[in-house]
Amino acid sequence: MNNAVGEVLITEAEIKHKVSELAQKLTADYEHKELTIIGVLNGSLIFLSDLIRHIPFPVKIDTYIGASAISKPETDINNNISLSLKDEHVLIVDDILDTGKTLSRIVQVIRGHNPLSVQVCVLLNKEVRREIELVPDYCCFEIENKFVVGYGLDFDNKYRNLPYVAVLEDNG
Ligand code: IMP
Ligand code: MG
Repeated sequence: MNNAVGEVLITEAEIKHKVSELAQKLTADYEHKELTIIGVLNGSLIFLSDLIRHIPFPVKIDTYIGASAISKPETDINNNISLSLKDEHVLIVDDILDTGKTLSRIVQVIRGHNPLSVQVCVLLNKEVRREIELVPDYCCFEIENKFVVGYGLDFDNKYRNLPYVAVLEDNG
């Protein structure tokens, strides 16, 4: 299979604008609360680091490592959050909501830590692909059913470093 970066769906400037708007919404909603942001690695890496630098009040930050490993039943998925989430407001940040399997599982795990609230924040939402009902509380862009890369999203662990979101074309 031969892949190439195709059409740019969301430009760097559009992302910057939306991320700063999102940070303003989060500030309005969370400024006077104890907020812990949990970034799902590796996909949220770029989005998370840009977003948190737009947030002007003190937040705690942790990461949820290896979301792709959670389909393996032998993996102890409770083990990789180091902060105590009890009585905290938690915002889970990920790159994309696709079928919903990954994030619904992570929400379940986080709820097990007895936080005061759990909300989900994604850069992209591919609603047509949903298999498990989950509506993001915060979302920057709705996209159609195309495989995209860039701004943290990968194919075969490549292309995360692109500063925009583009369609990955399969050139056979
Ligand atoms: P879900 O469990 O199907 O919602 O899948 C979520 C994960 O699949 C995301 O966190 C991404 O890592 C990956 N994913 C889904 N769609 C895309 C895409 O278009 N490009 C790159 N990764 C994707
Ligand atoms: Mg991911």
